[in-house]
Amino acid sequence: MRPYLFSLFVIILLITSCENTSKSSTDKDIPYPKEVALVPQVQNLSLASSKFIINKETVLIIDAAYKKEGQYLKQLLETSMRVDLKVATTATKNFIRLESLKAGDPLTPETYALEIDSTNLTIYGADAAGIFRGIQTVRQLLPSAFHQKEQQVAWALPSLSINDSPAFKWRGMLLDCCRHFFSKEVVKQYIDLLAYYKMNVLHWHLTEDQGWRIAIDKYPKLTTIGAWRKGEDGKPYGGFYTKEDIKEIVAYAQERHITIVPEIELPGHSQAAIAAYPHLSCTGAPLEVGTKWGVFKDVYCAGNDSTFQFLEAVLTEVIELFPSEYIHIGGDESPKYRWEHCAKCQKRIKEEQLKDEHELQSYFIQRMATFLESKGKKLIGWDEILEGGLAENAIVQSWRGMDGALAAANQNHYAISSPTSHAYFDYKLDAIDLEKVYSFNPIPKDLSSEKHRFILGGECNMWTERVPNPKVLDQKTFPRLLAMAEVLWSAPQERNYSDFYQRVQAQYPTLDAFGVEYGAETMPIGIEVFTSTESINVKLAKGSLDLELYYTQDGSAPTNGSSKYETVIPIKKNTNLKVQAFKKDKVYGAPIQRTFIKHLANGLVPLLSYQYSSYYTGGGNQAVTNGARGSLNFRDGNWQAVQKVPMEITIDLQEAKTISKLSTAFFQKQDSWIFLPTKVDFLVSNDGKNFKLAGTLKNSISPKKDASFIESFELSLENTTARYVRLKAYNITYCPDWHAAAGSEAWLFIDEFVVE
Ligand code: ACM
Ligand code: ZN
Repeated sequence: MRPYLFSLFVIILLITSCENTSKSSTDKDIPYPKEVALVPQVQNLSLASSKFIINKETVLIIDAAYKKEGQYLKQLLETSMRVDLKVATTATKNFIRLESLKAGDPLTPETYALEIDSTNLTIYGADAAGIFRGIQTVRQLLPSAFHQKEQQVAWALPSLSINDSPAFKWRGMLLDCCRHFFSKEVVKQYIDLLAYYKMNVLHWHLTEDQGWRIAIDKYPKLTTIGAWRKGEDGKPYGGFYTKEDIKEIVAYAQERHITIVPEIELPGHSQAAIAAYPHLSCTGAPLEVGTKWGVFKDVYCAGNDSTFQFLEAVLTEVIELFPSEYIHIGGDESPKYRWEHCAKCQKRIKEEQLKDEHELQSYFIQRMATFLESKGKKLIGWDEILEGGLAENAIVQSWRGMDGALAAANQNHYAISSPTSHAYFDYKLDAIDLEKVYSFNPIPKDLSSEKHRFILGGECNMWTERVPNPKVLDQKTFPRLLAMAEVLWSAPQERNYSDFYQRVQAQYPTLDAFGVEYGAETMPIGIEVFTSTESINVKLAKGSLDLELYYTQDGSAPTNGSSKYETVIPIKKNTNLKVQAFKKDKVYGAPIQRTFIKHLANGLVPLLSYQYSSYYTGGGNQAVTNGARGSLNFRDGNWQAVQKVPMEITIDLQEAKTISKLSTAFFQKQDSWIFLPTKVDFLVSNDGKNFKLAGTLKNSISPKKDASFIESFELSLENTTARYVRLKAYNITYCPDWHAAAGSEAWLFIDEFVVE
């Protein structure tokens, strides 16, 4: 067991009382933090009732082993104080000291202790990284004004003692600079932010279908061609890092004790490289740098020796730039379609006596692992590298849940946990909010305790398909990064969300000072629809207690003078509901909008021929009769979906009814594998056994049609009375041959079966 943590309440009281008892009138004017609110929480802390004042007379005493860290601290202080601080070998009072932990203290990497009293501030480190982490704690103890570079000549800190060390040794963030390109300055800012929250790995995603971002001398077209795609406005979009840029960024990270792990994707996610050098693919056909998001069938050819020569030459140059012990080779989402149809790949399978294309992928990764090992580097790959057999010493990064981490650890391989359930910061807050991240445990729950040591730690993954600029990057990363930082630094048994939540509030002024445009902690508005045969009722939930919700029913923008949500919104007629959250009378977050239709089948339980996807339930068994229509966001919770199979939906109207119209709507977004049905049949019956075709509506819209759109299928009826109605929608089953994901199972998305 770790020592107890201080309650924030006690900490605030203590500091307030020492502020009040300050004797010196001049000291009183020196900025002093109102509270101690550290993120991540430290292992143990005890506060005393005096303070230490850093002023222009403060002397720095720096152990020779920590010269760089001392220089970093000196610069930080000097920037905020407009002074030159003296460096000395001894002093009796008013000094800051960096020193090694004594023998007998815990000496695991990154461990530090902090002692502050009225005469000095000393950081003891197990190593230079420990000293650096201790400096971050000191930064967090200073008032947020310190970070605004207010040019104060003195700052005060509370007297205290802290002992601290990380729970996990791998505390990372993935930054995808391929889907969207982020400048050197942004990357450096993120290194600073990671350092501030005691993270220690930047997993830098540098190659993708949509852009190659690292200069390679031997293959200049990787950046002259591969770094640029046709942007949405038709102009070239892209960018890349020169070797000088990379050296600068790596040095910057090293100074902050952050390891940069470069990711060079193979064999999939390689379209940009193939666009530059088409001979790397199975077909050799010319290709453009990817302009769409998704998974694409053109991957490196595994039968071609020149593929391996290329990749080894690329990795050789990568290794020269990155001192990291680890190189990430991707390995995820590599369709086997081209390999199945490639004579060279098939020849390789035969010659190497491989069972299938999965073993061919394993062969591919194995070759890269052997190469990296010859260069003294360890290979990391996404959990797909487990398929067909794991390369010796390979480290698995688990993303499709925690099973990859579990399987790797059970095979005595190291693993990093970054499951889509908790660690995908590109996901919206309705899927992963601050509290959800805070509930993350990097150790798979079925892993026996003697294997826990194989779990190195975790990462949050910031994929940037929908992150076009640094502002959105900030909004998606913060404040969720703070939860990930605490989960990875502090031990799981010490977590307390409400205590953490309070400390996060105290971080906002600092994030403001850093210029971080952080987003919300949680979805401001939750919505639930309760439909019965009598009524449709909407219930809303506030993301936090300090919000108020206002709504309109005509689709107009709600103000804080609109109807205020109290307990329920009854839907009496066809309605376009729009809801907006307000915090202290200011708009908070985006509004939500839902349209509702009243019809004869509302609230009835349909009979479905299919098991709908657990990701797209549309609200469950009554999704197609609940009256809630789907929007252009197919993840809005109103769309129900299946893959590959058709949909047959039968509704018992309970008694024979006169029907004038049967209708429904489907969604298409072909680059997400979602297609309209090829046709829709509507049928009616009086006994529930013998159904008569009332009409067929053929779909005339091409599956190639781009963008997201909704298509209605409506059949008007005359003189029709029936107790049972049925809809049959025909799935195109697989993504067609022309499609980037040819052969993958196609999705069918429905929102409502409307009976009028
Ligand atoms: C991944 O998200 N494809 C690793
Ligand atoms: Zn091939």
